[in-house]
Amino acid sequence: MSDTTPFEPMSNGEVYQPSSAFIAKANVPDWESKTIQAEQDLQGFWSERALELEWYQPWNKVLDDSNKPFYKWFTGGKVNIVHNCLDRYVKTWRRNKLALIWEGEPGDQRSFSYHALNREVCKFASVIKAMGITKGDRVTIYLPRIPEIIIAMLACAKIGAIHSVVYGGFSVESLHGRILDSHSKIAITADGGWMNGKIVKLKDMMDEALRRSPSVEHVIVIKRTGQDVMMEPERDLWYHDLMSLPIASPKCETEVMDAEDPLYILYTSGTTGKPKAVLHTHGGYMVGIYATLKDVFDLKDEDRWWCTADPGWVTGHSYLVYGPLLNGATSFLYEGAPTFPYPNRWWLMIEKYALTILYTAPTAVRGLMRFGEAWPNRHDLSSLRLLGSVGEPINPEAWKWYHRVIGKGNCPIMDTWWQTETGMFIITPTPVMALKPGSATRPYLGVAAEIVDADGQVVPDGEEGFLVLSKPWPAMIRTIYGDPDRYVNQYWSTYPDKYMTGDSARRDKDGYFWIIGRVDDVIKVSGYRLGSAEIESALVSHPAVAEAAAIGLPHEVKGNSIHTYVILRTGFDPSDSLKDEIRNHIGHEIGPIAKPESITFVDNLPKTRSGKIMRRLLKARAQGLPDGDITTLED
Ligand code: WTA
Repeated sequence: MSDTTPFEPMSNGEVYQPSSAFIAKANVPDWESKTIQAEQDLQGFWSERALELEWYQPWNKVLDDSNKPFYKWFTGGKVNIVHNCLDRYVKTWRRNKLALIWEGEPGDQRSFSYHALNREVCKFASVIKAMGITKGDRVTIYLPRIPEIIIAMLACAKIGAIHSVVYGGFSVESLHGRILDSHSKIAITADGGWMNGKIVKLKDMMDEALRRSPSVEHVIVIKRTGQDVMMEPERDLWYHDLMSLPIASPKCETEVMDAEDPLYILYTSGTTGKPKAVLHTHGGYMVGIYATLKDVFDLKDEDRWWCTADPGWVTGHSYLVYGPLLNGATSFLYEGAPTFPYPNRWWLMIEKYALTILYTAPTAVRGLMRFGEAWPNRHDLSSLRLLGSVGEPINPEAWKWYHRVIGKGNCPIMDTWWQTETGMFIITPTPVMALKPGSATRPYLGVAAEIVDADGQVVPDGEEGFLVLSKPWPAMIRTIYGDPDRYVNQYWSTYPDKYMTGDSARRDKDGYFWIIGRVDDVIKVSGYRLGSAEIESALVSHPAVAEAAAIGLPHEVKGNSIHTYVILRTGFDPSDSLKDEIRNHIGHEIGPIAKPESITFVDNLPKTRSGKIMRRLLKARAQGLPDGDITTLED
């Protein structure tokens, strides 16, 4: 180890170790002893962490596992996550600290101190309260990456309403399904958002989605892009009008919540059927994301944290909105595309705002890598001290580029493995840990990660198996909103008392985990989570499509891309224009991210005797791999 080059490859050339100078500045707990402590006394460990936050009333029990797998955390405790994100800070010097720095794609800028953010949140919370929203009501939020998305989420949480954020890249059917399933009373959207120099017309999509969603009484519209939009009298209200009325009082009490009261639902794609609403709570979720962000990114007061995820996905919820505020940090938010107007946009903003931590997805790294080193090299990136990765396995080549070109060899990369359902980092390094490019390293404190075979037996190190979690953790999914049976079946029915992640992985002799990928029918496209079943049902909703199958195949930049096989209805002939039509149809139904890379017209699809499409076989054939076990294949 040397102090001048913070990282040196170890003997095999694939292990990166932080320098002693870097370690001296890091404020990370002693991991070995903490790991043992958390292993021996899980509840004691989490109770200590929970005490770092403020509670209106302490809990009686850290973990209640009397009704497995419906685990409860901090039962009896009274809290509100917003109290810990804002209320407690505006009483201290921190009210003057920047909570949020924002840049729009056209280059406009806004920033909010903790005081200013709290004021906006209070005002908007007062508005929706005056409109009749109360504890437990659902609110759909469909917004671009503008400060109001954070304000809206926090305003809901403050008064105990349950937010359901729908990613602004989703289209009409996805939005409609989520509004319907959640029975939202109000929806919050914008006229549009900027993406790649174009306006994404969110309000138009909301209007279309609402034609069949009777539960929504009001739509609150933020003026962002300024073009004319239809405002339905009585139903639609401008945000800026509401915020200038006397009902927008800057004084608004934070609702006292039970630790187990729902904070939000977030729809995510599963193996079957339509996306399911993962439910997270005020208490345990708060403790989990607060502690993980603090430990893994060693957040310091002088940091400027940039999580590039959209708030519409879990990474945005946990580590863009709630986690940084719980830690009293300054966050950066950017509205638009990484390459607009040029591929140096991200690097320029890192320089301009002196951002210190960049947390992004491997697909973004690979995408920007394609433009070459000259773009980042034009900028002073010396403010960066840590990097992060999430959403899919990072290939060693991208890891090394990220490390060398963006981190200048000085910034450890925190490759964090987790899921919408886990709420928080589960397998992750710390900044002082030896890193191996492509490995998410080791389980977080108190996490019991195992790799098992089909019978639930732990496999020997080095062998691939199913990744399961055999102990509960506070930020875990509580249920699937409105469908508790599905929660049990999906995650807990394969092995008794073990949470099934849906990923395969192996562990090396040093105890480092290497995530291989999904073993179910979830496809990760550019880090976005989509389901084969969802894409197939969008396909068959096109009038020309009789049957369809969707699979993911490896893709150099996106990680995976969607390939589809379609049987046409009689009377329709295969053509390129029909392919385009079907692709656009999927764009309209789900969103542009779900548009398939290829559509192949076929006469039949491989099915099991019970009629299930054998996607595995399609995948093997497409990659020129052996068929595998086909004993269940229909004739
Ligand atoms: C994948 C995103 C490898 C994994 C936070 C998981 C990863 C799924 C990593 C969850 C990582 C996430 N390395 N794979 N560091 N992080 N994944 O719910 O397959 O959108 O099951 O949550 O992303 O996706 P989700």
